[in-house]
Amino acid sequence: PAPTDYQAEDATISQGVVESNHAGFTGTGFVNYDNVAGSSVQFTVSAATAGTHEVKLRFANGTTTDRPMDLTVNGGAATNVSFPGTGAWTTWVEKTVTVSLAAGANTIRATATTANGGPNLDRISIG
Ligand code: GCU
Repeated sequence: PAPTDYQAEDATISQGVVESNHAGFTGTGFVNYDNVAGSSVQFTVSAATAGTHEVKLRFANGTTTDRPMDLTVNGGAATNVSFPGTGAWTTWVEKTVTVSLAAGANTIRATATTANGGPNLDRISIG
């Protein structure tokens, strides 16, 4: 089946704001993480089948410094994922991560791990 998109602006945001001033986002905007470690966006996603799924995180990072984030599923162990510079805040790219999901509802949280906060996050797609 086609991947399902979940917009960051519809997710649960802790220490971040929804903005729309950098073109190229999907939906109605994106999340600008506060520039602090611990800022986060949490999605509730649905999986038809238990097991391995591809998560694509669509982001922009207009700086030349990586904005790594910890990815956690259902509050489990964190995987630290790199979100390197994309060249401009209007240049959006997808980072693909493989995660293990339960059948039904799951939470996926992306938490900034440096004082720069996260990248600008547009959406995630679950395959
Ligand atoms: C700029 C940019 C924001 C971005 C921020 C940051 O202010 O306009 O979209 O989130 O830098 O460095 O996090």
